[in-house]
Amino acid sequence: MEGINFNQIGVSFKGSGSYVPDQILTNPKISQKVDTSNEWIKSRTGISERRISSIGDNVTEMGYAAALSAIEMAHWDIKTIDLIILATSTPNDLFGSAPSVQAKLGAFNAVAFDLTAACSGFLFALITASQFLKGGSFKRAIVIGADQLSSFVDWNDRRSCILFGDGAGALAIEATNEFDNFIGFDMRTDGGRGSFLNLPSKNNKDSIIDDIDFLSGGFSSIQMNGQEVYKFAVKEVPIILEKLLKKMKYNSDQVDWLLLHQANQRILDSVGERLKIPREKILSNLEKYGNTSAATIPLMMDEAVRDYRIKQNDIIATSGFGAGLSWGAALIKWG
Ligand code: COA
Repeated sequence: MEGINFNQIGVSFKGSGSYVPDQILTNPKISQKVDTSNEWIKSRTGISERRISSIGDNVTEMGYAAALSAIEMAHWDIKTIDLIILATSTPNDLFGSAPSVQAKLGAFNAVAFDLTAACSGFLFALITASQFLKGGSFKRAIVIGADQLSSFVDWNDRRSCILFGDGAGALAIEATNEFDNFIGFDMRTDGGRGSFLNLPSKNNKDSIIDDIDFLSGGFSSIQMNGQEVYKFAVKEVPIILEKLLKKMKYNSDQVDWLLLHQANQRILDSVGERLKIPREKILSNLEKYGNTSAATIPLMMDEAVRDYRIKQNDIIATSGFGAGLSWGAALIKWG
């Protein structure tokens, strides 16, 4: 896709979409598999159930469904889309799944690529896309967050398997020269703490021929130190959001919605308390879906846009955080 300069100064939010698989794994059902209970999971995380992909629900399919519904809300001709960024850690093709989403959509004039930053992935992708739009390179972008962590969860590890689910969400954003609804952002990583949450490769040594070895590819399951990740989130997320609000000269009482990565209700409540944002302004749907990784933020946003909680010109403070460790924040105005 060739660069086109429109003298663009800002970004406008035009549509949202989401998709979750049909299969529902409830807490009582998980309790039949590992030594846990509905009460324990509910009180420690706020999660009641999560969706699990079945055959046909891979990241390309879920991302496509979410993107299509965002495009429909935006009333865009698919041929006018310039950029598709798919945030995912679980592509169904390790070489990248975004081009297959592009092909399924028929968005032949777009360039499409994957971006990996685990649970911060959607936010990092939104920030990346917004820079292309504000820089004047592209006019219309679809940003997708889609993950299928169920394929990488150790379903015998009760400390982590209760948290995760599958799904996808997408936003349609457009460059404009009239205003800027992408108010500000910040993003951080700290690889020094990466071992708190990762999904490492698992290579088996094999031999090609004679004395030439190779390592066969593969991945192990999610490894998590839950307490450390919890401490990281409740410390860093308020700091990055507070700094961003201050930098953009906003008070927390000007925020209509706090939209955090949906990891744990206790994390959401703690961050809300630190920022003095009341509970009714904290968006949460993790009870139904658990942690869908890169999908949580657009999945929640789409639900709140479609049920008219998020209205035109509402101010949304959003933050993604997770493996890397990585975290980021953005301040946006819907519409
Ligand atoms: N059911 C029942 N008991 C469980 C359990 C489960 N599913 N998981 C752990 N336990 C037990 C532990 O074995 C431990 O028992 P012990 O005291 O006898 O050793 C006890 O519960 C307390 O474990 P702890 O790890 O301290 O629990 P916690 O209150 O920290 O909650 C998490 C665990 C995972 C829910 C919590 O740490 C968390 O949400 N962390 C953040 C994880 C996250 O968000 N990751 C993704 C980020 S993108």
